[in-house]
Amino acid sequence: MRSLTSIPLLLSLLGAVETVHAATADQWKGKSIYQLLTDRFAPPSDTAPARTSPLPSTCDPALQTWCGGTWLSIIDKLDYIQGMGFDAVWISPVSQNIDVYTPYNYAYHGYWVNDPLTLNPRFGTSDDLKALSAALHSRGMYLMVDVVVNNVPGLTVNDTESSKTLVTDGSRWTDPSEFHPQCWIDYSNATSIEYCWLGDDKLPLMDVNTENPTVVSTLNSWIGNLTTTYGIDGLRVDAAKHVPGPFWTDFCKASGVFCIGEVYGSDIANAASYQTQGYMDSVLGYPLYYGIVNGFGTPRGNMSAFVDIASQTLASFPNPGLLGNFIENHDLPRWRNVTADAQLAYNAMVAQFMFDGLPVVYFGQEQDFSDGAADPYNRAALWPSQYANSTTYNHIKKLNDIRHAVISNGTSFQGKNFLDSQTKIVASTKTDVAFRKGPLLAVLTNRGSPSESQAFGVPTSGWSSQSSVIDLLSCKQYTVGSGGAISVSYAAPGYGGMPYVFVSQMDAQALKLCGNVGVATYVSANSTTSAKSSASMEISSSATLPLVLAGLISLGLGAMFAIGTSIGMDISISTPFIASKSKSNWISGSVPLRLFVTLFLVILLVFQH
Ligand SMILES: *[C@@H]1O[C@H](CO)[C@@H](O)[C@H](O)[C@H]1NC(C)=O
Ligand SMILES: *[C@@H]1O[C@H](CO)[C@@H](O)[C@H](O)[C@H]1NC(C)=O
Ligand SMILES: *[C@@H]1O[C@H](CO)[C@@H](O)[C@H](O)[C@H]1NC(C)=O
Ligand SMILES: *[C@@H]1O[C@H](CO)[C@@H](O)[C@H](O)[C@H]1NC(C)=O
Ligand SMILES: *[C@@H]1O[C@H](CO)[C@@H](O)[C@H](O)[C@H]1NC(C)=O
Ligand SMILES: *[C@@H]1O[C@H](CO)[C@@H](O)[C@H](O)[C@H]1NC(C)=O
Ligand SMILES: *[C@@H]1O[C@H](CO)[C@@H](O)[C@H](O)[C@H]1NC(C)=O
Ligand SMILES: *[C@@H]1O[C@H](CO)[C@@H](O)[C@H](O)[C@H]1NC(C)=O
Repeated sequence: MRSLTSIPLLLSLLGAVETVHAATADQWKGKSIYQLLTDRFAPPSDTAPARTSPLPSTCDPALQTWCGGTWLSIIDKLDYIQGMGFDAVWISPVSQNIDVYTPYNYAYHGYWVNDPLTLNPRFGTSDDLKALSAALHSRGMYLMVDVVVNNVPGLTVNDTESSKTLVTDGSRWTDPSEFHPQCWIDYSNATSIEYCWLGDDKLPLMDVNTENPTVVSTLNSWIGNLTTTYGIDGLRVDAAKHVPGPFWTDFCKASGVFCIGEVYGSDIANAASYQTQGYMDSVLGYPLYYGIVNGFGTPRGNMSAFVDIASQTLASFPNPGLLGNFIENHDLPRWRNVTADAQLAYNAMVAQFMFDGLPVVYFGQEQDFSDGAADPYNRAALWPSQYANSTTYNHIKKLNDIRHAVISNGTSFQGKNFLDSQTKIVASTKTDVAFRKGPLLAVLTNRGSPSESQAFGVPTSGWSSQSSVIDLLSCKQYTVGSGGAISVSYAAPGYGGMPYVFVSQMDAQALKLCGNVGVATYVSANSTTSAKSSASMEISSSATLPLVLAGLISLGLGAMFAIGTSIGMDISISTPFIASKSKSNWISGSVPLRLFVTLFLVILLVFQH
């Protein structure tokens, strides 16, 4: 027995060495998060038996009842999540809920926590939650758990006066002193937002008294124990804005892990106060969400609203790199419910992934779920999608791959890498925007799918005139025009207003993202043949050395293309701002000669910097 058990033991010890539990904000920097509702992500299976019986034969979100997902069933589908490039999973609350029929049916979503200290038996046992945590850690992934402490559900507004129901339902809090007195929230009154009650008279969410010393010490010791017992790496804090901020400072410290709060609403200053006041590490990016909706939610929407909100976000948060950036969640409409156009969705997702922050993708977004204008319809089970390898699944994978590559390779621009650079908006029009984050330049539009013979010119890309850049989404090559300008075309039939993510050619080679990829999904083969020049190459006649260098660079690039072509790479040249170079025939010599010239060019380029 000893020898049989020693291998798993050794593996688990190795796993423990590799993975970090109780991850800090610094360790979360650069992560990418997949958000799921435990009940709806994966169905019961042989290894994950149902814990609710009977289960509905099909999962109809309108019924608001359990559909059978558990912590163990999540493990069944971790390949699907990791295959999309995520390295963290945010699961819905794990604590005990009221388990009775209510005017809003059942607590399948897990947010009606009435005892934070007890696990929810509908989703599994203590060992099951540990197994999920271990399964994630063995893949090098983080576990984020949603916690609800602001409120507990009651069945009548009088529950605080007569605690009978609370006791029957197993509520952690039953004494009137453990609640704030009943009042419904008046959103124009900041005190009321923190002290009054969410919910309504059919299902009041009684506001827990987070100044009561017993409540505070119970919650603080519980959260430290929860994170260590289950190896939790981060917390998503529900209803963070409904609790006075200073409570969170101690609570998050007691948790020992990264805390990201839900501060619902478009108020940037209020959201930023969670970082400036040290209440918690970060918040979900609600303001940026509204910016993305305004900018990309409708064809030719309000791009200046996106630019305004993005700029204010960057100026207001001390650490925008920790914001959780999303375009849908369990409280909001499905993106595709409101926005039909696939290119708008893709542009919105590039904004979500390339802007400062941690991308947070809500399960179903990758399957283009569109049925879901609001709760409960936006909480449909994922399994009817059959976890398909959809186009959007692959887009998300691509965006995660780009982030991973630039982060792990430490790719930098002007001495700063991706994570340490703050997003900078470099150009915008009524329909387009370009922003740089470190080595990457995102060029986005809200024009939508119909093609138009229009282009968007970014006057100063940050790269030097004549240098080569690659769009990592299509793996096509562009040459930077005079003054560092880059122009993108929206003329490709059927593809219209597609997004671009540029990186220098040198970086693209190091990142190995386009090596053998060929042409990506959204780029029409037609766009390569329609590339036109819209400006001519400008080289100052007085600058002889640069001219010589430029000539040599052209020669070298020609050689690179020749090599690229010879190894079967699909490299095309689209040169909107300068005269187009055709695939060069200058170098028709042997492979060693081509290599020599390429090396020479690389040295020159490095020398130039
Ligand atoms: C709640 O309590 C008040 C008095 O405190 C009483 O008038 C009212 O009927 C009660 N409501 C319910 C639903 O029990
Ligand atoms: C704001 O709400 C609090 C809590 O309900 C209340 O005590 C206070 O009177 C309200 N202030 C105003 C100006 O209405
Ligand atoms: C920590 O949580 C575990 C699991 O719920 C429980 O058994 C244990 O008593 C708790 N320890 C403390 C110190 O609260
Ligand atoms: C676009 O958003 C800006 C706020 O950034 C606002 O001032 C402007 O009125 C909006 N335009 C339209 C047409 O809604
Ligand atoms: C949006 O969701 C609602 C359900 O909430 C559904 O009735 C409607 O058909 C959806 N619209 C689209 C375009 O999918
Ligand atoms: C998913 O689709 C992409 C692109 O269509 C393909 O490259 C990839 O191999 C597929 N993955 C699986 C697991 O089928
Ligand atoms: C970055 O990529 C290049 C080329 O693939 C490689 O040589 C280099 O070691 C990488 N750097 C890091 C820090 O991984
Ligand atoms: C390429 O152009 C031809 C003719 O304009 C068109 O029929 C075809 O659908 C286009 N292909 C793509 C992938 O857009």
